[in-house]
Amino acid sequence: MKNILITAFEPFGGDAQNASMEAVRMMPDEICGVRLTKLYLPVVFGKAAEMAVAKAIETEADAVICVGQAGGRDKITPERRAFNLRHARIPDNAGAQPDSEPICKFGGEVELSTADAEKMAQAIRGAGVPAEVSDDAGRYVCNDLLYSVLHRFSADAKKCVFIHVPYFDGQTADKPSLPLADIARGLEAAVESVIREDEVDYGMLCRQIDSLCEGVENTVSNLANAAALIYETLPRLNWAGFYTKNGEVLHLGPFCGRPACVKIPMGRGVCGTAAERGECITVPDVHLFPGHIACDSASNSEIVVPLYKDGAVWGVLDIDSPVKERFSAADTDGICRAAKAIEKHIN
Ligand code: SME
Repeated sequence: MKNILITAFEPFGGDAQNASMEAVRMMPDEICGVRLTKLYLPVVFGKAAEMAVAKAIETEADAVICVGQAGGRDKITPERRAFNLRHARIPDNAGAQPDSEPICKFGGEVELSTADAEKMAQAIRGAGVPAEVSDDAGRYVCNDLLYSVLHRFSADAKKCVFIHVPYFDGQTADKPSLPLADIARGLEAAVESVIREDEVDYGMLCRQIDSLCEGVENTVSNLANAAALIYETLPRLNWAGFYTKNGEVLHLGPFCGRPACVKIPMGRGVCGTAAERGECITVPDVHLFPGHIACDSASNSEIVVPLYKDGAVWGVLDIDSPVKERFSAADTDGICRAAKAIEKHIN
C-alpha cells in the first residue's frame, strides 16, 4: 500500500467549524510509510462524492477513508455500511434537501465497507480513544459519499470506509465531545489498521501449505489447494495459480480467478520470462512490462516465482492483483518462501 486518500468535510448547518476537517488537518502526511492525501469536501450531495472519486483516481489511492462529523455521538464510529438513499433533515451547502431519493437508480440497497470497521474500532480504542462500530451512517451527505465511493471502487479493490467523529472540545457547550488531539490520534490508529489489513503472516501460510499437502501424493491436488489458500489469504488479488513446464511451453495448471490463457511459450510474458530466467519477477505495473500477456483485464500488478524440481524449473506460481504496486518487498520475500513450501509437495 502506497497512497491513501483521506477526506473530511467543510463546516455545514451554520456551524463555524467541522470536527472532521480540524482533526484531519492535525494528522501527519505519512503513516507507516504510506502517503496520506487530504481532501476537504463541500457538504453537497453528489458533488462531495464526485470530488473524492476523481481525487482517488488521480492519486491512485489504495484506500479511501472518509471522515465526517456526527454531532451528538460520544465516540469515534467507523461505519459498517451505507444505504442507497438520500434524505435530508436540513439543506446541504448548495441548498438541496432530497426527500427519500435513491443515490444510484440501479444500485443495490446497501454497500458494505471494504475496510474492516471492527478492526478499526479496536485499533482506535487501543490508542486510548473511545470507539465503536456503527451500522447507520445516516441518509445525509456522509452516507451519500460512502455509498458512492463503495459503489464506484468495489471492483478496483480499493478499500473504502467512512468514520464519524464527535464534536471536539470547545466546539459545543452542551453536546458530547472529545479533545481534538484525541480525535486525530484515533483517526491515525484507524488508518494504521487499514494499512495492516494488507499484511500477511507468510510463516503461517507456509505452515498451512505444509499441513494441507502433507501425505497427499497427487500434485494437482496440492497445487489446487495451494492456489485456493493463497487466493484466500492474500488481500486484493484477482488471480493466483500455476503453470507447469512441458518442453518449451508452460501449461495452465490449478488456479483461482478468471479463465486464463492455456499455453505460454518459454520466454514470453511475465510467466515465460520468469521460467526462462529461473528468477522471481515482481511487476509493479503490468502495462509497462514488455510482452505482458493480459488474461484478465483487471490485472495491474503481478508476481511470478519459478518452481524447481530436481534442480530444474518445473513450472511457475503466478499471482495477479488489480492494484498497481500491490506486492511489497515483504510480499515478494513471503511469496518466494511459499513457493519453496509448495515445491516440497510436487511429486
Ligand atoms: N500475465 C501473465 C499470463 C498469465 S495470467 O496473468 C494468469 C504473463 O504475462 O505471463
